[in-house]
Amino acid sequence: MPLTDKFGRPITDLRVSVTDRCNFRCVYCRSANPETHMPVGELLEWEEYERLVRLLLGLGIRKVRVTGGEPMARPGVEDFIARLKALGVADLSMTTNGYLLAERCDRLVAAGISRINISLDSLNREKFERMTRTKTFDRVLAGIDAAQASRLRPVKVNAVLVQGINDDEIEAFARFARERDLIMRFIEFMPLDADRAWTRDTVVTGAEVYRRISALWPLVPVCHERSETARKYRFADGRGEIGLISPVSQPFCGHCSRLRLTADGKLRTCLFSKEDHDLRSLLRHGASDGEISREICSIVAQKEKGHGINEPGFRPPSRTMVSIGG
Ligand code: 5AD
Ligand code: SF4
Repeated sequence: MPLTDKFGRPITDLRVSVTDRCNFRCVYCRSANPETHMPVGELLEWEEYERLVRLLLGLGIRKVRVTGGEPMARPGVEDFIARLKALGVADLSMTTNGYLLAERCDRLVAAGISRINISLDSLNREKFERMTRTKTFDRVLAGIDAAQASRLRPVKVNAVLVQGINDDEIEAFARFARERDLIMRFIEFMPLDADRAWTRDTVVTGAEVYRRISALWPLVPVCHERSETARKYRFADGRGEIGLISPVSQPFCGHCSRLRLTADGKLRTCLFSKEDHDLRSLLRHGASDGEISREICSIVAQKEKGHGINEPGFRPPSRTMVSIGG
């Protein structure tokens, strides 16, 4: 019997953030100003993650995505992935900014990862470097090359669209998907950025992306699982796929199947949760497997109905994406 929340949603997916550090400073995520990080002692040890994931698998979790910050920035992540694989995670994936991928893709594949998502917010070098506040365009493209040359399938490339910054590249991203035969995913900007620059006007909706791409190339809907966040389309006349992830204009909370474990051992039932639930202190104070599993069930029972972004009086959570795990 899988974990089910009080709205009847089966909880089958876990996002595990292994660090709140990142070698990028994307404008829609991190601050332009110096930020503080979790002290090392507050981060879960690999063994602690492993124990929690084992218990969560026992409760019905089937998919695990390793995230950060930038997950490859934490030394030992490949070994951790191999340990998750050995625990029997059926669907094991990672989200990365791609910076370290070209040199480490083979090790990730050997460790047992099956799918990967890579962020690429502009196809224009100068704009990419402005958005990520780094000079890493070539390395990220090399990372995408390495992923496509490996056994990892599908390779998904994520772009967060921000009005006035990269909304002029929608067609270019679609062309990239066609030329490279990959899945290009367009993500609506969410109010999770450290500098609180998000406003409704900065969101480029999935409907707008659909309208602009389908004006150039006919799109055919692709079936997807109910709990999948993306509406997917292939091109009628060629290779490649697009995915529209529209949490702001078309919330998918009603089918949400996710839980998030932060790098400091907090379980979050929603990106936008007002509070998170401390599992680390249970781990570090000798709780039994049964006690921890019961606590997880009671946390899941508190999963909120939706993120509330479109409700009056919405306030963004105190944590931002880099410390929650995308
Ligand atoms: N809105 C939407 N997506 C975001 N991400 C980070 N911050 C935001 C935001 N404010 C995305 C990254 C990556 C994933 C981990 O989360 O681009 O694809
Ligand atoms: Fe790093 Fe990802 Fe945040 Fe960019 S969006 S700063 S790559 S965690």
